Amino acid sequence: MAWQKVCPLEEIPLLGARVVAHEDGAIAVFRADGDTVFALRDACPHKGGPLSQGIVHGSGESARVTCPLHGWNVDLDSGHACAPDEGCVERYATKVEHAVVWLEV
Ligand code: FES
Repeated sequence: MAWQKVCPLEEIPLLGARVVAHEDGAIAVFRADGDTVFALRDACPHKGGPLSQGIVHGSGESARVTCPLHGWNVDLDSGHACAPDEGCVERYATKVEHAVVWLEV
């Protein structure tokens, strides 16, 4: 695992995401309210929908993304689908330093 520079924070739309290419599949880097940043594999635990195209809501530990395909909510901090749905998607560590976003992959 190593820290990879993603982009300046301002280049990720607020309540949106940016996709980072990775050899194991795309990773979605989300920017939630309060400029908290999260990263998940860009594949919904339901049927693989692009979470990066979903709407981000909530903040901090309650930040979630709603999948654009069938509306599942996925917890951005844990990668778990919110009840009553079940499943989870791989999560990655992120950090913001001097307004630059980093991803641990
Ligand atoms: S693929 Fe995401 S809710 Fe169905």
